[in-house]
Amino acid sequence: MKRILTTILFLAVVLSAMAQIRVATPNIEMVLTAEEGKTLNLLYFGDKLNDNDFANLEHAGVLDQNVYPAYGMNCPVDAALAVTHADGNMSTELVIESVSQVMEDGAQITRVKMKDTVYPFYVTVCYRAYQDVDMIETWTEIQNLEKKPVLLTRFDSGYLPIRVGGVWASHLYGTWANESRLVQEPLNRGTLTIKNKDGVRNSHIDHAEVMFSLDGKPQENQGRVIGAALCYGGNYELRVDTRDTDYHEFYAGINPDNSAYTLASKEVFKTPELALTFSNEGLSGASRNFHRWARNYKIAHGDKERKILLNSWEGVYFKINEEGMDQMMQDIAYMGGELFVMDDGWFGDKYPRLNDKSSLGDWVVDRNKLPNGISWLVNRAEDHGIKFGIWIEPEMTNLVSELYEAHPDWIVKAPERDPVVGRGGSQVVLDLSNPEVQDHVFGVVDRIMTENPDIDYIKWDANMSIMNHGSQYLPKDKQSHLYIEYHRGFAKVCDRIRAKYPDVTIQACAAGGGRANYGILPWFDEFWVSDNTDALQRVHMQWGASYFFPSIAMASHISATPNHTVFRTTSLKYRIDVAMSGRLGMEIQPKNMTQEEKDLCRNAIAEYKKIRPVVQFGDIYRLVSPYDGHPIASMMYVTPEKSEAVFYWWKLETLYNDQLPRVKMDGLDPDKVYTVHELNRIDDKPLPYEGKSFTGKFLMENGLEIPYRHYVNYYKRNDWASRVFHLVAQ
Ligand code: DGJ
Repeated sequence: MKRILTTILFLAVVLSAMAQIRVATPNIEMVLTAEEGKTLNLLYFGDKLNDNDFANLEHAGVLDQNVYPAYGMNCPVDAALAVTHADGNMSTELVIESVSQVMEDGAQITRVKMKDTVYPFYVTVCYRAYQDVDMIETWTEIQNLEKKPVLLTRFDSGYLPIRVGGVWASHLYGTWANESRLVQEPLNRGTLTIKNKDGVRNSHIDHAEVMFSLDGKPQENQGRVIGAALCYGGNYELRVDTRDTDYHEFYAGINPDNSAYTLASKEVFKTPELALTFSNEGLSGASRNFHRWARNYKIAHGDKERKILLNSWEGVYFKINEEGMDQMMQDIAYMGGELFVMDDGWFGDKYPRLNDKSSLGDWVVDRNKLPNGISWLVNRAEDHGIKFGIWIEPEMTNLVSELYEAHPDWIVKAPERDPVVGRGGSQVVLDLSNPEVQDHVFGVVDRIMTENPDIDYIKWDANMSIMNHGSQYLPKDKQSHLYIEYHRGFAKVCDRIRAKYPDVTIQACAAGGGRANYGILPWFDEFWVSDNTDALQRVHMQWGASYFFPSIAMASHISATPNHTVFRTTSLKYRIDVAMSGRLGMEIQPKNMTQEEKDLCRNAIAEYKKIRPVVQFGDIYRLVSPYDGHPIASMMYVTPEKSEAVFYWWKLETLYNDQLPRVKMDGLDPDKVYTVHELNRIDDKPLPYEGKSFTGKFLMENGLEIPYRHYVNYYKRNDWASRVFHLVAQ
């Protein structure tokens, strides 16, 4: 048996005999079998093998399944690829031609080139195995060398067989103001499909990520878990098909629904990456793998601390004016914030943006509201010692806008039909498959940044789906390319923006949390988790989002009560303690806050600055889930060296005298001794363990007793209790 050494730097190895390929990261690996003229099969995916087990792997009765099944020669089984060849033949049979492994930018790249047994039609299955994080990305490059176009009707990024036996799926669902809700379900016979057909955004309804717990009901800190994230910003489909075999068949890729793709002769179709990880430290272990990979490779500026900001939306909505913006900047500066973001409502000349019925596309400042323009605001921010950011929604327009009047042909619209309108009764989506539209969208950012180079932050919103299928740019025979071309256009625009403006912070907002995905995050620094800023519901949503996304990417703001969306009144302390578990910000009118409230926030911001590196770069350990029916939720972040940790505890809505569980911590060094300090304390007296120290072992085996409520003046008591502890190793 010939083995290919994974450490070879550049050799392209053409196989002539049976070979095993190791696709490996520091702690996990995938073993494939490849033989020239045969299919590419998966032997193993899990913890890294030692030499003995690797040598005997093939005798262990392991997987041995085709990693990229194509439709046509085993029709009753699902397929990752379906092709109608130029002559109408709907079957494809792929066998290996060559394999290469190289090191590129610190990652091991494996490429297995396969050819159809009859047609000059090629599929290269690719793997990127990182050498500093435990993540393997897989994708395919589909090449048509037939003389005429072929039609792709399915084009998954990857396929993974998962051994049947107590497997559970954990994934996220939701909708506007209720995003990233966790659902956990056992995999049964039949099909589980997780999909999106929004066209523009893709994390409302379902999410393009999933975890599989292999050892029965999911546990946070124990058990084997496979994690998968499709790195794509458009329509997707993840499906687990469980038939009569020993394997759950997991496929993930672009949603082929109404997206049949005509692949021209010589054209290559590259599928998005499917990122795969494995952990034997439970769901939190898989999350830590996702978070490290994200910070290192998949979110913009993943190694940079995020600024603490005030966003104007819930404070003033569309009522933007100079005096108001200046006052908000002054207030956030007073509270210790570092950035102010002016949200919707600042633009429009012929059609001023007074509400959501008009003006998108007309990205000129409304001089009635802001007579001195953006530059005056940027300068005022500087005077206040903070940075300035701005909201845009550049992929959209309104039928009531100068842009639409000039370019009615730029919108997505079904041929022969009136446009279907969205928000405000007049919003429509611009057709990003059109290069002129791409120039326009790039130009929106370019103009703002050229005129105001000191702008530090852009909130990029997207409040509409593709409702009516039709491109006025694509030819008649390529209308089914719209969804795919929209996102190719989006990628081109983002590449141009990042090439010219590498440093600006950009938030992906999409009617709240509609754009939390690893397709777009490489260009974006963070996403807006939800328009719902109610702290209790945020505990649930941020918990869900944390499965796949690091806290550094999760914008989490302190807002007013009664909450503007759910009308719940929680305490300010509770809102602070929840927001402090993500990228802290504020979404409030400071003018309406009392001095006491401002001082509480000022203190919290100062405290957050101390723990910011732990929160934003630490390893997550989820402890008690808000989805498990307990009266509390709890989690913590620990630095990689285990020298510092931040512990969060939030009481959920409970009945009086409910028994609260005592929470055991996790992730600490059992031998280190940690001093406990409560942050954001409001109680009259410190907790008994304030300033005391305990070993990591004690804290992980026993935890600390947390009182049911806060001991404050009787008239200030409420039923919201929360605690944040900073643990520092001596
Ligand atoms: C939807 C976003 O989610 C909000 O935060 C806000 O920016 C509004 N759009 C503005 O129209």
